Amino acid sequence: MANVIVIGAQWGDEGKGKITDLLSKSADVVVRSQGGVNAGHTVVVADRTFKLHLIPSGILYPNTECIIGSGTVIDPQVFIEEIKQLETLNVSLKNLFISQTAHVTMPYHRAIDRASEERRGKHKIGTTGRGIGPTYADKSERIGIRVVDLINPDDLKTKLEWTINYKNVILEKLYNVSPLDPKVVIEEYLEYADRLRPHVIDSSLKIYQAVKQKKNILFEGAQGTLLDLDHGTYPYVTSSNPIAGGACVGAGVGPTIIDRVIGVAKAYTTRVGEGPFPTELKGDIGENLCDWGAEFGTTTGRRRRCGWFDAVIGRYAVRINGFDCLAITKLDVLDRLDEIKVCVAYKLDGQTCYDFPTNASQFARCEPIYETLPGWQKSTADCKTLEDLPPKALNYLKFLAELMEVPIAIVSIGAKRDQTIIVEDPIHGPKRALLDANGDPVKTKV
Ligand code: GDP
Ligand code: IMO
Ligand code: MG
Repeated sequence: MANVIVIGAQWGDEGKGKITDLLSKSADVVVRSQGGVNAGHTVVVADRTFKLHLIPSGILYPNTECIIGSGTVIDPQVFIEEIKQLETLNVSLKNLFISQTAHVTMPYHRAIDRASEERRGKHKIGTTGRGIGPTYADKSERIGIRVVDLINPDDLKTKLEWTINYKNVILEKLYNVSPLDPKVVIEEYLEYADRLRPHVIDSSLKIYQAVKQKKNILFEGAQGTLLDLDHGTYPYVTSSNPIAGGACVGAGVGPTIIDRVIGVAKAYTTRVGEGPFPTELKGDIGENLCDWGAEFGTTTGRRRRCGWFDAVIGRYAVRINGFDCLAITKLDVLDRLDEIKVCVAYKLDGQTCYDFPTNASQFARCEPIYETLPGWQKSTADCKTLEDLPPKALNYLKFLAELMEVPIAIVSIGAKRDQTIIVEDPIHGPKRALLDANGDPVKTKV
C-alpha cells in the first residue's frame, strides 16, 4: 500500500498526465487537489490522445476511482465538455466524483480574468483566461459559489443573484464590460447542476475511507512548483498551491498518510505566459526544442517558451516538495543536439548563487551559469532499458540526478505508455536524498 503525490518540478507541462496515467495502473484512487481548467494533461494510449483539464488522468482505467477534490475550482461548462469527449471515446465515468466543497468558476470570473489582464497591459501575467485567479479570489473573499451551492437550486438562486449584482458593478464601472443577466446565468447553471449532481460527494470522507481500506491513492498535481502562489515566481504564478503540501490541503488529508512524493521534470525547461525565465532560449535552439517537443499549450494552444534545464529551480523544487525520486520526461526531444547546456547556478549581482532567490526582482536579474555536456545525436525513442540508452544520454541523466540530489526512477522518451524506462520502482524503490545516514553517496542506478 502506498499513497503517492505526483508534482510538477518546473513551470507546468512536465508530463504529469503521462506519468499519472502510467502510475494509475497500480492506484485504486486518483485525486486532483488544486487548480482548475487551466491545467491541460495529455495522455497518449496506443493511437488515441486524451486531453484532460479537470478530470484526473487515472480515468482511463475503468476500475480506478477519480476524485476532483476540495481545493480545485470547477468550470461546469468545460467539465461537461470533457465528460462528453470522454464518453465519445467510450471511457467509463461511473467512478468520477466531485467534491461538494470545490468552488465553481462562473462567467464573471472568466470576464474579470480577461479584462484585468487587458488592464494590466505590459504587466499582464499571461493567464489562461479561464477565470482561475478570480475564482480563488472569491474563495478567499468568502463570496465564492461552491459545488454544494450549485446543486441546491434555492441556494444557487439566492447566492448568484446577490453575487452577480455585485460583480456587475465591477464589470461595468471598473472594466467597462457588459453586465451579466442573473436570470440567464442562473438558468444556465441550474442545467449544469443537473449534469454534475450524480457525481458530487464529500471528497475528504471518501478519501479517508480509501485510506482506512488500505487502498493505493495517487494525488495528481496540476501546474508546477514555480507556479505556486506562495513559493513560485510571484506574481507570475497561478492562484493555487501546486506543491506537495498543497495536495494534502486540497484533498483534505493529513500529511501522515503520504508515503512518497514523485517530482516530474522535463529534460529541459518550458514556460507558458509571462515572467522571468533565466535559461530561456530565444534563438534557433529554442525554436527547435519547441518544434521537436510539440511545445504548444494543451489548454490555450500558446507556443511554450523553451530553455535549458535549470538545476537551481530543480533543487528548489526538491526542497519545497521533498521529492523522493524523479521522473525525467522528454529526454528524446534532446536527441538531435550536438551539445546540451545545464544551468548549475546563477550569476546575481556579481555573485554566484546556488539557491533559488525568492525575491522576485533578484530572480529577474539572474543569469545562468552553464555546464555544457555532449549530445548523443541518436534516437532514444525505442529504448526499453537504461542500457539501451546512448552512454552520453545516461551521463546527462546522471548529471541531473547528482545536481538535484535525488534519484531518477522513471525516464520518459516519448508520449506513449511504452516509451518509458522504469529505472527503479518509483513507488517502492529508493527514497529521498542521494546521501545515506552517514553522508555517504547512496548507490542508485541513475
Ligand atoms: P502536463 O500538464 O504536465 O500533464 O503536461 P502536458 O500534457 O501539458 O505536456 C506534456 C506533453 O508532452 C504532452 O503532449 C505529452 O503527450 C508529451 N509527452 C510526455 N512525455 C513525453 C516524452 O517523454 N517525450 C515526448 N516527446 N513527449 C512527451
Ligand atoms: P498544467 O497542469 C503551464 C500558467 C499560465 C500563466 C499562469 C497563471 O498543464 O501543467 P492562470 O490561468 O492559472 O491564472 O495562469 O500560470 N499556467 C500553466 N502553465 N501548465 C499549466 O497547467 C498551467 N496552468 C496555469 O500560463 O502563466
Ligand atoms: Mg499541461
